Amino acid sequence: MKRRNFIKKASVTGLGLVVVPAITSCATEDEKEKKATVTGKALVPVVLATWRFHNATKAAWEVLEKGGESIDAIEAGCRVEEANLNNTTVGIGGSPDREGNVTLDACIMNKNGDYGAVVCMENIAHPISVARKVMEETPHVLLAGKGAEQFAVEQGFKRENLLTDASKKAWLKWKEKSEYKPIINIENHDTIGMLAIDKNGDISGGCTTSGMAYKMAGRVGDSAIIGSGLFIDNTIGGATATGMGEEVLKTVGTYLIVELMRQGKTPQEACEEGVKRIVESNPNYKNFQVGYVALNKQGEYGCYCIHGGFGISKYQEGKQTYIESNAHTKKA
Ligand code: GLY
Repeated sequence: MKRRNFIKKASVTGLGLVVVPAITSCATEDEKEKKATVTGKALVPVVLATWRFHNATKAAWEVLEKGGESIDAIEAGCRVEEANLNNTTVGIGGSPDREGNVTLDACIMNKNGDYGAVVCMENIAHPISVARKVMEETPHVLLAGKGAEQFAVEQGFKRENLLTDASKKAWLKWKEKSEYKPIINIENHDTIGMLAIDKNGDISGGCTTSGMAYKMAGRVGDSAIIGSGLFIDNTIGGATATGMGEEVLKTVGTYLIVELMRQGKTPQEACEEGVKRIVESNPNYKNFQVGYVALNKQGEYGCYCIHGGFGISKYQEGKQTYIESNAHTKKA
């Protein structure tokens, strides 16, 4: 008999244990019990983020801990890295394009499957919050460039210079050679993608980035594109991505991962399959990194990447942990 997973309604016991048993339609009562014992108990709330973005997951956790909704936790967490001047891949202080302009991409998804995003937006430091405004205040889902910036200003966001002295110096140094060989996220940092489940068992997600350093003007990667940098389905779970956006876009990576979880794969298996699709379709994979994180509604999570060095920051039960991801290849 074909097995299909059903998610039974979660029973919430305050801030802490949410029992979300996974059962199979053709299982006997004994089998159901066994399955529930093995995989069915998850402690929520929980928040996961790409990389060692510990301050971001801490900020998200503080929202969840007070009983806040996952969408608020996601926005609060992502804003921390957007404001971090030392993070050259997200928000203010992000590396500019080859013309010296910092352009930001971000998206957010809530428990209802609503989506909001901005791409190629300049002069506004918190694209995750603008993305949320797009989701909540407009009939649209995605605003780009000048239109996104204009909308942000109308919503009360202030214009500011996103190019810090340090980013400008690095860009000027790059210009001496102007070597257009984008190597994204081989180093230990990049886009922040975040997934959170709140005390009600509802999942939301966000993803925010300045994209590839010294990219062509107008280049947009995966981070703000639904199903690529982020996908959330509150009946199944969510996934987010970091790394070479072109490859994630071509394989619609996070939509694929959520659909694989829908078909019964664990988050770990689904992330591995997502990476496999890229590796098998692109012989050049040794020259770029992609990392995926997935979280299902039972609170199970997984991560996988092309090259070692990637990992995820997790906050749960008031504790911060870093989980090193397994990789398709050894450390790049
Ligand atoms: N993953 C970030 C980008 O490719 O823009």
